[in-house]
Amino acid sequence: MRRPLVMGNWKLNGNKAVIEDLIKGIDIELNGVEGVDIAIAPPVMFLDLAKQLLSQVQSKIILGAQNVDVNLNGSFTGDISPRMLKEFGTTYVIIGHSERREYHAESDELVAKKFASVKESGMVPILCIGESNAQNEAGETLEVCTRQLDAVIKIQGVDALNGTVIAYEPIWAIGTGKAATSKNAQYIHSAIRAHIAVQSEEVAKNVIIQYGGSVKPENAAAYFTQPDIDGALVGGAALNAKSFAVIAKKAATAKDLIYSRTQFIGKNII
Ligand code: PGA
Repeated sequence: MRRPLVMGNWKLNGNKAVIEDLIKGIDIELNGVEGVDIAIAPPVMFLDLAKQLLSQVQSKIILGAQNVDVNLNGSFTGDISPRMLKEFGTTYVIIGHSERREYHAESDELVAKKFASVKESGMVPILCIGESNAQNEAGETLEVCTRQLDAVIKIQGVDALNGTVIAYEPIWAIGTGKAATSKNAQYIHSAIRAHIAVQSEEVAKNVIIQYGGSVKPENAAAYFTQPDIDGALVGGAALNAKSFAVIAKKAATAKDLIYSRTQFIGKNII
């Protein structure tokens, strides 16, 4: 059974004091909440601080990173190795976020290599895929998403998606307040799952597919009540402990219901 994952992507925000407040705030707000995995991806500079703060309060919040290099070590000035992230307590690594693809010219192939490197280092990649506004208007959404996904499958095989996370993030919805409707997001999520199912039904059934792009406390439940939306990658709203906690709690409640219903249907068919 899939378990929802709500992750805060803090991007290039915060300082030591802000990070401390946020972590303490989120931990208090979400103390005792079950049925959802909760993760945060602070800027890499603050990973160690975050790790210490989380262990001080024995928090269940999982640590993530926003990016990583493909190389494990060597002459790559300024880069961060997957091994280093792992040493600093990182479990999830966001790969191929549209801001990396756009501002750092990361290609599908590079993203696929990073995906492999993260897995080999014993962490879980969160593979971001999604279309631009122009591609959306041209009706190319599925073509773009499957191309980005196939880059990973081509190098690694479909089984590489086992135990990993995909984040569908339409670029036009990121940080704009113009979120995809839950119905449209569900349509794309189920199409992504169907695309994977052509090669492996088992992998398709188990892979977590998050939605990302202007997820807020007000619209979160609408996504989580869709059968193929398994959580969210949250930017802006994750910078406020209360907002982020509301989103995570909505995932826990909604997904509990949806997954048990899906399982029930499945059992009836068998
Ligand atoms: P947003 O960002 O929630 O601010 O739209 C999402 C993301 O970039 O992951």
